[in-house]
Amino acid sequence: MSQFTGNHILSVDQFDRAAIEKVFAVATTMQPYARRQKRTTVLDGAILGNLFFEPSTRTRVSFGTAFNLLGGEVRETTGMSSSALAKGESLYDTARVLSGYSDIIAMRHPAAGSVAEFAQGSRVPVINGGDGANEHPTQALLDLFTIERELQYEGKGIDGLHIAMIGDLRYGRTVHSLSRLLCLYKNIHFTLVSPPELAMPPAVIEAIENAGHRLTISTRLEGTLDADICYQTRIQEERFESQEEANRYRGKFRLNQSVYTKHFQSKTVIMHPLPRDSRAEANELDNDLNQNPNLAIFRQTDNGVLVRMALFALTLGVDHLLTSYERGV
Ligand code: CP
Repeated sequence: MSQFTGNHILSVDQFDRAAIEKVFAVATTMQPYARRQKRTTVLDGAILGNLFFEPSTRTRVSFGTAFNLLGGEVRETTGMSSSALAKGESLYDTARVLSGYSDIIAMRHPAAGSVAEFAQGSRVPVINGGDGANEHPTQALLDLFTIERELQYEGKGIDGLHIAMIGDLRYGRTVHSLSRLLCLYKNIHFTLVSPPELAMPPAVIEAIENAGHRLTISTRLEGTLDADICYQTRIQEERFESQEEANRYRGKFRLNQSVYTKHFQSKTVIMHPLPRDSRAEANELDNDLNQNPNLAIFRQTDNGVLVRMALFALTLGVDHLLTSYERGV
């Protein structure tokens, strides 16, 4: 039994460095299973309720893939209109019912705090797959796992990191969660680049300042030449009052090879939680970076399966079976 067994994963605030290291250690042991070099059935007979009330490609499919790779089955509900929530059923009732059909539930919902509210009615562990503009804890964990792996090649760790976060820092939940996780480390330099209206929320700024980290806030791409990580984000148009308002900001911070060469060192790792908005009016991460070896976006998505496998194994208490029995089979 670990501290994770039987518990919800709703916020990055539940994690300390030891917990993160545990998740990363288990995620690393998942690699041969994710690559189909080994097979396991440790979750044989278990059911994941995969509830996505907001669009998703990576999070939904990687949760499902991770569960299948551990031998479990997945039942999906996608879209609000196909659920009784559209008839006025409460999150509590929905949780109460669906937790009778599942061993664990992953959920995404457009309202901040909704996944925590749902968890109150659930009799099984609930994992937050993104609640509005609030949090995306599993994305933050896979981002941090990616950062650790990328920097390992340069003999660096997370302590002392300089990260530039760019774009919609107000509504981009992944940067909220990642910033909070990074606050657990030492001597982080955050450079936050956004239009003033899309600045990082005050609560996250306060957390960074209270943890004693270096903070640079700018409305222009500057001061990033020694950044280790460039974390680009999409304008979260679905969170704006109107499309017209979102359009004011789309395309404000475009990253392409020439911008990268001008503003970053040649080894700066390029990250983005995806999806990237590839339409001409936005194009925040140009395809001309696709061959850049520092572009880590698809390593992030691959790592998402490992991290989500680890979270399932830990939450359902089967991680020890994989590391002792399954390893080396
Ligand atoms: N990064 C992320 O949450 O992607 P999806 O919206 O496709 O799940």
